[in-house]
Amino acid sequence: PETGPKYRIGFSQCTGNDDWRRNMLTEMKRELFYHPEMQLLYRDAESDSKRQVQQIQELLAGKIDILVVSPNEAAPLAPVIAAAYGKGIPVIILDRKAATDSFTAYIGGDNYNIGKLAAEYIAARLNGHGRIIEVTGLRGSSPTVERHQGFRDALAHYPGLKVIATLEGSWVAEKTREAAARNDSAVQQADVIFAQNDVMAYSMYRYCREKGLTHTRFIGVDASPYPDAGIDLVSRHVLSASLLYPSGGKEAISMAADILAGKKVPRNTLLQTVLIDSSNVKLMRLQIDKIQAQHQEIEKQQSLLQEQLSLYQDQQHLLRIVVTT
Ligand code: FRU
Repeated sequence: PETGPKYRIGFSQCTGNDDWRRNMLTEMKRELFYHPEMQLLYRDAESDSKRQVQQIQELLAGKIDILVVSPNEAAPLAPVIAAAYGKGIPVIILDRKAATDSFTAYIGGDNYNIGKLAAEYIAARLNGHGRIIEVTGLRGSSPTVERHQGFRDALAHYPGLKVIATLEGSWVAEKTREAAARNDSAVQQADVIFAQNDVMAYSMYRYCREKGLTHTRFIGVDASPYPDAGIDLVSRHVLSASLLYPSGGKEAISMAADILAGKKVPRNTLLQTVLIDSSNVKLMRLQIDKIQAQHQEIEKQQSLLQEQLSLYQDQQHLLRIVVTT
């Protein structure tokens, strides 16, 4: 007899509409191939914290065995996450944090270190002297706070580096552009712009190019493997560097499987970062292409296996008809 999935994972994503999160979902689906016992119920809150709270409530009402959540903002999402956990539903928080201790496990990139490495890279490139603009994510998202803190703490060692403006780009291109236009004179003077993700870094790049600024350097975060995303932008010398921010998608699914199987899991999993610039971007690209090819091969094998399986089931069915008539 065919056995369907035994467990339902509710996955509440703060927004689905960007390369980094597309990559996260791809990684999750790949890992789910190995776990036919689990089914993913996916909800995209489109960067709206209220909507995300609602969607989590709906997931809970529809019965889930585990909740995976990437909270849009830390404070507004805390009560509903704590409530889920309070009901005995295991909760994995992914990437962005919530302002509560009521969860089973957290998985995410080392955001403090990302900010710190960005500052050290800038210090080396500018020989410790220059004007910087920082473009932050959404104020209420935890990576914004942590990247900013790491950036500021490291910059404190370089008195010749001055942050002349901090803009809130809210993780997206359009808001970044508006903030740049409002702070045009600071933008004109900046030697380096550190944006807390590649989308905002690329938006600043386009703004500066339109204004005829050619001396400005740009550093971003994410290094996603798509056209016009981080790795590609570093290869094209649009960005001087990008800090790799691992999605944790694969880790979240395999941890969910462990929790559902009754295994003990670590409370905090910090995923490591690496700075990608012109010195190592070629190597990164090769690695990514190789992994991509391997995944395609696995997916091909899996669909062949599926075909064999349904063929076998058809034959069994036929056989039963023959035997009973
Ligand atoms: C994608 C994103 C990434 C960023 C992360 C922070 O939605 O904005 O670019 O690194 O979220 O949570």
